[in-house]
Amino acid sequence: MNLFEGLPAEEYKCIVIDPPWQYGDTLPGERGAEDKYDGTLAWSDLRNMPIKDMADDGGAHLWLWYTNAFLAEAASLVDIWGFRIKTQLTWCKPQIGLGHYLRNTTEHCILAVRGTLPSVGPKGIPSHFVASRARHSRKPDEAYDIIRAISPGPRIDLFARSPRVGFDRWGNQLLVWDGMKYVESPERFLRAN
Ligand SMILES: C[S@@+](CC[C@H](N)C(=O)[O-])C[C@H]1O[C@@H](n2cnc3c(N)ncnc32)[C@H](O)[C@@H]1O
Repeated sequence: MNLFEGLPAEEYKCIVIDPPWQYGDTLPGERGAEDKYDGTLAWSDLRNMPIKDMADDGGAHLWLWYTNAFLAEAASLVDIWGFRIKTQLTWCKPQIGLGHYLRNTTEHCILAVRGTLPSVGPKGIPSHFVASRARHSRKPDEAYDIIRAISPGPRIDLFARSPRVGFDRWGNQLLVWDGMKYVESPERFLRAN
C-alpha cells in the first residue's frame, strides 16, 4: 500500500502537519497518546513526504507541530521540504507533563515559508497561547484560529483527525459526525466543509 495514499495532488497556500513522531524511549504517559494513533512514521518516511509538491509555487506557509524531543528533526524536515523557518507558535500547557531533563509544558508549531507570502493577519499576534491539554494529542482550536488568521487558503491539515473550519484534511483517523457522535471515516482525504 502507498503510504501517502489519498494525499491530494493540489497546491495549498497553507499546510499544517502534525506528524505521528516515532518515540525511541520508554517514557510512559507522554506516549499514551501515541498508543491511540493508527501507526507512527519513521524519519525516512517523513522526509519523503511530497510536501514541496503540495505547496503553491507562488508562496506558501508550512506549520509543523513538534514536541520538544523532536526539535532537530523538525528543523531538518522544514529544510528538506524546501521551506524557510520564520518563527514558531508555542502552546503553553497549564498541566505539567513528562520529560527526561525538563518536564514538558510546551509544544511548538514552526511557521516556515516557501517563496514569499507575508501574514494576512493583524499585527500583534503573540508567539504563544495557553490552552489545556486535550485528549489523545489533539491540538487546541486556539492554534487553528491563529493559523487561519495568519495564513490564507486554500489550507490543508495533514495527519488530521477532527474537522477544522477552512481546512481540507488528510490522515488515517479522520473523524466525521454521524448525527450522534464522531466516528472514524474510511476516507483518507476530506474536503473542508
Ligand atoms: C499527532 S496525531 C494527529 C493529531 C491531530 N492533529 C489532532 O489535533 O487531533 C497523528 C495522526 O497521524 C495518523 N497516522 C499515523 N500513521 C499514518 C499514516 N501512515 N498515514 C496517515 N495517517 C497516519 C495517526 O493515526 C494520528 O491520527
